[in-house]
Amino acid sequence: MDDAQRLQYLQAMGIDVWVPRDAVAEQPPVAQQQPDVPGAAPAEQQPEDVEAVQQAWRQLEQEVAGCQLCPLAETRTQTVFGTGNRNADWMLIGEAPGQSEDQQGKPFVGKAGLLLTEMLRALGLSREEVFIANILKCRPPNNRDPRAEEVAACQPYLQRQIALIRPKIILAVGRIAAQQLLKTDTPLGRLRGTVHYLDKIPVVVVYHPAYLLRSPLEKRKAWNDLQMADRLYRELQD
Ligand code: URA
Repeated sequence: MDDAQRLQYLQAMGIDVWVPRDAVAEQPPVAQQQPDVPGAAPAEQQPEDVEAVQQAWRQLEQEVAGCQLCPLAETRTQTVFGTGNRNADWMLIGEAPGQSEDQQGKPFVGKAGLLLTEMLRALGLSREEVFIANILKCRPPNNRDPRAEEVAACQPYLQRQIALIRPKIILAVGRIAAQQLLKTDTPLGRLRGTVHYLDKIPVVVVYHPAYLLRSPLEKRKAWNDLQMADRLYRELQD
């Protein structure tokens, strides 16, 4: 993507294209936060492995579609499995489907989803290149926060998705996703700006686009977080 396009996407995100002098100081160093054990590059998959992985995806999709493990099964229109590239380097994990997602069966398709798409584009990524999922596969009624028992019931599905995708980097989108993934109740303001790890996969916490729609002044910080994730990702390629 050239600079002109990137500027267009930043503008679509609602971010001014000038950079204040102190924005540079706000960017935390990434290199010193490298994972302790990056791990060797995975060997190429053999055809039989490919078939086994495809079978594992089919099995997982079927289980999620028919899931009755928590009471959300009674109120959902449909499950929202997740969409995108199953070999993605980038995985985005949000909180739970909202009304539009529950109706369409896809994550982040409402107003917040449009902003998320712009955030990705500002990084030079399309929705098709990344994999997008949620902590919960079903919509909580009236978009209330997920309950502990719902998260516990749904967690193995997400763990299996992460294990199949083996992303190089995870973006935890919003407070609930970040706190549930990292098993902490630290506020989002203190989780953002540093790199966390989930089974050696780096996790960067970003503001939820629904919050950014309500608090547009925070978009600058959101852009800094995305840039930090991008730098980290590039460093992991070296
Ligand atoms: N908010 C989320 O966290 N996930 C969605 O899929 C939609 C809105």
